[in-house]
Amino acid sequence: MFPERGSGEDEVLRELEEKTKEDLTFDSGKILGSMCTYPHPLAIKVVTMYIDRNLGDPGLHVGSHEIEREAVEMLANLLGLEKGYGHIVSGGTEANILAVRAFRNLSDAEKPELILPESAHFSFIKAGEMLGVKLVWAKLNDDYTVNVKDVEEKITDNTIGIVGIAGTTGLGVVDDIPALSDLALDYDIPLHVDAAFGGFVIPFAKALGYNIPDFDFRLKGVKSITIDPHKMGMVPIPAGGIIFRERKYLEAISVLAPYLAGGKIWQATITGTRPGANALAVWAMIKHLGFEGYKKIVRTAMELSRWFAGELKKIPGVHLIREPVLNIVSFSTKNLEEVERELKERGWGISAHRGYIRIVMMPHVRKEHLEEFLRDLKETMERL
Ligand SMILES: Cc1ncc(COP(=O)(O)O)c(C=O)c1O
Repeated sequence: MFPERGSGEDEVLRELEEKTKEDLTFDSGKILGSMCTYPHPLAIKVVTMYIDRNLGDPGLHVGSHEIEREAVEMLANLLGLEKGYGHIVSGGTEANILAVRAFRNLSDAEKPELILPESAHFSFIKAGEMLGVKLVWAKLNDDYTVNVKDVEEKITDNTIGIVGIAGTTGLGVVDDIPALSDLALDYDIPLHVDAAFGGFVIPFAKALGYNIPDFDFRLKGVKSITIDPHKMGMVPIPAGGIIFRERKYLEAISVLAPYLAGGKIWQATITGTRPGANALAVWAMIKHLGFEGYKKIVRTAMELSRWFAGELKKIPGVHLIREPVLNIVSFSTKNLEEVERELKERGWGISAHRGYIRIVMMPHVRKEHLEEFLRDLKETMERL
């Protein structure tokens, strides 16, 4: 009920504390199945300091607007472009919707269709529904990458774009983006790469010597990339990223905002009023950690994943879905539903879907947490 009179600050905070008691927190080490993490202290500081900035009205916050542009430019650089066009947005969902929107608006297809892997994130279902774009699902190979031949067979005159995934939600698999890029160029269809998760992992993992396919703008068929700073980028939610190769994609989704206090602008994002603080935190984290800083975070996460996968294989009744590509390890078990229930009862933040449990080695996940989890899993397997 909407209260008649306000309460004191202490009372409000006490009530909040009570009500959030059941929440799992990242610093507890119990959340193993999330792609988010406890943000970096600098990012928290920046968000607090600049909490009032609104990038929806850039004429008012000219400095913040310029910082967002620089953040986009640094992300584009990381992804192999000297200059890119895009925005820091609310997350991977908004970024994917913007890419599909750009492809649709630039196409003259009568009944627009988008070809995407069966492993694609559900945000594309929202995009398809909102934008009136039919989703055409392409089959996966045995290693869970998209079957490029099947993608080719599904191309029609109505195809507005192809999607490839660099770090799938369930398994962290990277599609054969070089082959998809060639296909896209052959048929003159734009390719969108969903690297919401992989964008802040793959460049660093490759630099560490991991053998992962190319996935970014170095491949000419790639016209847009989703990359989320609020996943492995250590920035507080909400912070997603959409980067386009050319200005025309951004222009194709821009509408005139005529009434703003800072003056008229063309606005491409789904959200109007949007947090400048988080864009500034993206900029700050990239400046602070640099390539070497992120590489260090990714090194730990990758090494932990390989160790964890090895330990899982030793537990009877546990089956690794595939060797990890990035810092995600997924496994199935006999009696999966019961195992999931038991692990949840023991306080673990995990979930089973598509027939397996996904563990994401985010920066808050340490070896001791995983050792405790393995003990619980072993006990559960023995009991059930
Ligand atoms: C590959 C991929 N794309 C897009 C998304 C959607 O991102 P968000 O939840 O930030 O909207 C996710 C989320 O997990 C994802 O894994």
